[in-house]
Amino acid sequence: MKKLAAGNWKMNGTAASLSEVAALVQAQPAPVCEMLLCPPATLVASMAATAKGTALHVGGQDCHAKASGAHTGDISAAMLRDAGASHVILGHSERRADHNETDAQVLAKAEAAIAAGLIAVVCIGETEAERDAGRTLDVVGTQLHGSVPAGATAANLVIAYEPVWAIGTGRTPTIPEIAEVHAFLRARLTARIGEQAAGVRLLYGGSVKPSNAAEIFAVPHVDGALVGGASLKASDFGAIVAALSAA
Ligand code: PGA
Repeated sequence: MKKLAAGNWKMNGTAASLSEVAALVQAQPAPVCEMLLCPPATLVASMAATAKGTALHVGGQDCHAKASGAHTGDISAAMLRDAGASHVILGHSERRADHNETDAQVLAKAEAAIAAGLIAVVCIGETEAERDAGRTLDVVGTQLHGSVPAGATAANLVIAYEPVWAIGTGRTPTIPEIAEVHAFLRARLTARIGEQAAGVRLLYGGSVKPSNAAEIFAVPHVDGALVGGASLKASDFGAIVAALSAA
């Protein structure tokens, strides 16, 4: 299994930000791990052009479940593919919170993404109240079962475990807490999609930065990271890519 360092630019970046992409691919011409950046939709095509011929993959941050039609403001998986994307993040907690996305909707989007030839990066994670109530495994297990298509494979699915309370806060779970969730997710994924689960990359996300990347990447069943804030700067993301390549 090739590990994956994925960056989520969220609603950040303009054409000028592509200089960071150029710097990243120059600093990491042939990383041992895979490298993915997911810019806002406005930058997918231009970032894909910048990344052409390099080790960097480009992805979207969401797609519609339908292939086309009267859905103003939405984009389809095929459109992302056409713009040069190979991956798409789905069910990020910010979309679940801001747009009331349900597990069933995320599943439909993941099916559409896979049908269009994209790799679906499905996000799950508990809130702080859910963790405090001791419900973490219950919550992420339910999200995983409800959001992941039963026919997904190691080639078209990536899972990102992102505790909501760790995103953008500088706080992370303890190493044993990450280990517990990732081992649980591997088992639940096996129950959902069978033996293909062994090859699915399970990413940790939430306040990953150069200073904590190595210890997180040493955790069993952590096969990479989904990185928000620290993916915006080539130097920070490059350091995380280097840490994952060395893990
Ligand atoms: P963060 O975001 O790295 O800024 O915490 C992670 C994410 O939301 O994917």
